[in-house]
Amino acid sequence: MTNNGSYAIDLHRVEKTYRGKVRALRGIEMQVHRGEIFGLLGPNGAGKSTLVKIMMTVVRANRATGTILGRPIGHKPTLGRVGYLPEHHRMPPYLTGHQVLDFYAALAGVPRSERRPRARRLLGLVGMEEWADKKLGSYSKGMLQRLGLAQTLMNDPDLVVLDEPTDGVDPVGRRDIRDVLLELRGEGKTVFLNSHLLSELEMVCDRVAILVQGVVAQQGTMHELTAESERYEVAIAGAPPAWVAGDEKLRADAGPNDTTTLIAPRSDAEALQPVLDRLRRESRTILSVKPVRETLEDLFMRAVTDPETGRPHAPGAARNGGSS
Ligand SMILES: Nc1ncnc2c1ncn2[C@@H]1O[C@H](COP(=O)(O)OP(=O)(O)O)[C@@H](O)[C@H]1O
Ligand SMILES: [Mg+2]
Repeated sequence: MTNNGSYAIDLHRVEKTYRGKVRALRGIEMQVHRGEIFGLLGPNGAGKSTLVKIMMTVVRANRATGTILGRPIGHKPTLGRVGYLPEHHRMPPYLTGHQVLDFYAALAGVPRSERRPRARRLLGLVGMEEWADKKLGSYSKGMLQRLGLAQTLMNDPDLVVLDEPTDGVDPVGRRDIRDVLLELRGEGKTVFLNSHLLSELEMVCDRVAILVQGVVAQQGTMHELTAESERYEVAIAGAPPAWVAGDEKLRADAGPNDTTTLIAPRSDAEALQPVLDRLRRESRTILSVKPVRETLEDLFMRAVTDPETGRPHAPGAARNGGSS
């Protein structure tokens, strides 16, 4: 097997500038392993949908090298092995759920005899069997997303690409969609999804990439991305002890109501013990000792915050001629 063969998606130097001025993507490097659920995170305007559309050949990149399922981007037969749920997808409101699935299956070249049983199975998978013969005009946003998800699976794809699959879906629907994604992974499919909702991804993704202003700021497993941030937080009453300033492994942050939080690296539990001993000797009240690891939200906020201003990056992509 070639090196490419081990990746479901392998992208290099993907660049896109809309109308010669909006730099939506500025050199994307991204690898998605086969059989994993991969989440692409980023604020609105980061370029998530643009990247998906380039993979699906809906939008032409200014520059892109890479493979999808081991074949160069744009390889037609390979696109037939991909299921795609576009953002803001529209399906005809006068068709029933079943008719929509049948229509898309016909487009995908699924033999007539297979369409009906497959549609029934997929409507069951997304919890829509009772709505199969009702018109889409009567569906809620969440139901349309469920049906959209079923539609992406009609060609029995190896790779499923979902652009904001839980957009506008209520919490129960979101949980159901997450369960479907896990089931797809169980069948050996690769799932790639975009979202601006963090908790969503935290719960299901094996690996994530954080896209900020058209570049991948971070990429890896949740564990890898948050490991560096592992620490102990020791809350004590009163002001920081003077000796903390002389200990390079310790940091002191002022807390609320005349408390102080001491922060120590988590990798070094042994080193924390003398600190606690000393606090006790000095009759400090220890309020709590907590092992802490960053959440995806902390990580995300750090990635989207401009270190110079301490504020979020301006929304939207960088313009040409900007400071970047
Ligand atoms: N068809 C288009 N023409 C011009 N600019 C576009 C077009 N589509 C997207 N953009 C711009 O490209 C940037 C990235 O958009 P998009 O990929 O939709 O981001 P996301 O999906 O992360 O919200 C934004 O600044 C957006 O305004
Ligand atoms: Mg989008």
